[in-house]
Amino acid sequence: MAITPQWKDELRARITLSSLVQRSVKLTRAGREWKGCCPFHEEKTPSFYVNDQKQFYHCFGCGAHGDAISWMVDQQGLQFMDAVKELAGIAGMEVPAPDPGMAKRAEARASLIDVTEAAQRFFVEALGGPGGGAAREYLTRRGFSAAVMREFGFGWAPDDRQALPKALPQFGEDMLEGAGMRAANEKGERYDRFRGRVMLPIQDARGRVIAFGGRILDKRDGVAKYLNSPDTELFDKGRTLYNLHRAAPAARQSGRVVVVEGYMDVIALANEGIADAVAPLGTALTEMQLELLWRMVEVPVLCFDGDAAGQRAAMRAITRALPLLAPMRSLGIVRLPAGLDPDDLIKAQGKGAMEKLLAAPSSLIDTLWEFERDAQPLATPEAKAGLKARLMAHVETIADPEIKSLYRRELSDQFSEFAYPPRAPRAAPAPGQRNGQQRGAWKGAPPALPGLSDEARARLGALMGGGQRDSLLSAVLAGLARYPSQIRRHTEPLSALARIRPEAADTIESLFEVAETLDSHGPVAICSATRSQPAPSADIRYAFLDEGTDPDAACEELAEAVSLLVERPALEAALAATIARFDSDPEGSFAEQTRLRTQLMAVEERLKVFGRRKAGAGHTGDETA
Ligand code: UTP
Ligand code: MN
Repeated sequence: MAITPQWKDELRARITLSSLVQRSVKLTRAGREWKGCCPFHEEKTPSFYVNDQKQFYHCFGCGAHGDAISWMVDQQGLQFMDAVKELAGIAGMEVPAPDPGMAKRAEARASLIDVTEAAQRFFVEALGGPGGGAAREYLTRRGFSAAVMREFGFGWAPDDRQALPKALPQFGEDMLEGAGMRAANEKGERYDRFRGRVMLPIQDARGRVIAFGGRILDKRDGVAKYLNSPDTELFDKGRTLYNLHRAAPAARQSGRVVVVEGYMDVIALANEGIADAVAPLGTALTEMQLELLWRMVEVPVLCFDGDAAGQRAAMRAITRALPLLAPMRSLGIVRLPAGLDPDDLIKAQGKGAMEKLLAAPSSLIDTLWEFERDAQPLATPEAKAGLKARLMAHVETIADPEIKSLYRRELSDQFSEFAYPPRAPRAAPAPGQRNGQQRGAWKGAPPALPGLSDEARARLGALMGGGQRDSLLSAVLAGLARYPSQIRRHTEPLSALARIRPEAADTIESLFEVAETLDSHGPVAICSATRSQPAPSADIRYAFLDEGTDPDAACEELAEAVSLLVERPALEAALAATIARFDSDPEGSFAEQTRLRTQLMAVEERLKVFGRRKAGAGHTGDETA
C-alpha cells in the first residue's frame, strides 16, 4: 500500500497522541506534556512523557520513543498496516489504495530535488558573478546583511531563456520541467521560467530546496512582481510554509511563531534577529499550514496589514481556523499600521515597534467580534440582529463543543452589552431614599427598590418565596431576582424567553425594571443580605439559589441555565420551521434538519449535565437541612 510521508503527517496531526495512550496508560498533565508510568518497562515513578505538539512519546527510563503508529505496533502489538488502518479509523481518514507506481515516484522526487538544488547553486553563483551586479545592489539597498543574504540563499536568474539547460546539461528537459524550472508556450518552445529575477529558494521542513520565488528588480507594467514555482511533485504550495525549517527550532526557543504575508517580510525580520517567522506562499493560509503552525506552538501569531484587504485576509484565516480550534489551540492576531508590511514597519519605526506589536496580539475571538461589529453600519434593530446572526453563524462552524459553547456565550454577552446598553434613568430617586433602601433582608419579600412598581415588587416577591419552584424557568427567574446585577447580561435571551414563555413575560418585565433601577442607583446588594438569613423555601437544588454558593460560581451557573432555557425552544422552533419546508426544498430541509438535530442533542446533553450538577448540589443541601 502507498502510505506517503505526507499522509502519515496528516494522520499524526489528526490524532491526539495523549488520548490514544490514555486508552491503556494513566497519564497526568505535566506542563505542556503528559506523564505516566512507562508501559514498556517496570517502574514506580513516572518517567514516560507524551508530547501532543511534537506528536511523540518518550521514556527517560528505558528510552522507548515513538509516534502514534509505533505506539500501536510496539505497545498494542499490531502489524504496521493494521496499526495504520486502526488509526485512520480514529482520525476519519481513508487508507490510500495500493499504488505500484509509488516507489518509482519517490525515486523521481529524489532526483527532482537534485535539479532544484543544482539550480539553486547556479543562481547563487550568478548573483556573485558579473551579471549579478544590479541584483546585488538591489539587495543591499533593501538593507539585507551579507550574512542574511547568504543564509537565505539569495540568487540571480539571468535574463536568458536558455540559461538553465546550458548551465545544467546533466538534466534533460523533462527533469527541468518536472522541477518547475522550465515552461513551454503554445508552439511547444521551452524556456526558463525565471528570468531577470532575484531568486529565493523555498525549502521543505528538512531544508531541501523544492521550489523558488523570484522578484523583478523594478516594477514593470504587465509583469508580476513575484513569480513562484508551480506546484510540482516536490512542491505543494498549500502544504509549505516559507522558512519553516529555520523557524521551527527558533520557535522552540522563543515559544512563539509569527506568520507574515510575504517571504521578504520573513527575511526582513530575520535581518533584525527575529528568527521565528514563516510565510505562506502567496495564498491564504490553508488548513494544513495551520496544522503545521499548531505543531510548533499553541497560539501562532498572524500579522496582517491594517487596511481593509488585510483585515479581510485576517478573517479568511480566522474562518479557516474556527472549525479546527481545540483546547489550548488558537490564533493571535496582530494588526499592522495600515499600508505597512513588517518590512516597511521596521524600516520606518525600527525593530522595537514590531516587537511591541508582536508582544500584544489580539485574541481570535476579539478580532472576530471587532471585524463583524465594524463590517456594516448598525443603525437599525435589523442591522443589529444581522450582526448577531453573523456572529452565531461563525460559532456554528466551531467543531469543539466546549469551545463552541464558550464562543456562543462570550459573543452573546458582547453583543448584548453593545446592542442593549443601559437605558438612561427614568426618574431621579427621591432624596434620602437611597441609603436606607439599598440593603435589607429579603426573605420571601422583594427588596424595597426605589422606582420599582408595587406590582413588579409583588411578582418578584412571589418568585423569591418559591412559587412553582420545580421548573428550571422559575429557578432561573428566582436566581436573577437574587443576583439582579446579572439581569443586564442576559437581556437578550430573557427578551426571547418572554416571547417563548408568555407566562413568564410579566416577571421578566419586572426583572428588567430591577435592572434599570440598578443602573440608575448603583449596585443593590440583595443577596449579601439574604446570606445571613437563608430563606427556608429557597430551592437549593440549584446552586445559584443555594445560600452557600460562591457568588461568582452562582452567576456562571445561572448563565448556563439561562442559555439552556433559551436555546432548546429556539432550536425546536427552527427544526419545526425546517420540517415545514420539506416539500418545497427536500434536500436543503434534510441537511438543515440533520444540523439542527445535532445541535439539539448537544443542548440536551448540556441539560443533562446541568441536571446532574444540580442534583449533586441538592444532596449536600438535604443533609444539612
Ligand atoms: P507583497 O506584494 O506584499 O510583497 O506580496 P512584499 O512582501 O511586500 O514584497 P516587496 O517588499 O515588495 O519585495 C506578498 C506575497 O505575495 C506573493 C508572494 O508570495 C509575496 O511574498 N506574491 C505577490 C506573488 O506571488 N506574486 C506577486 O506578483 C505578488
Ligand atoms: Mn514589502
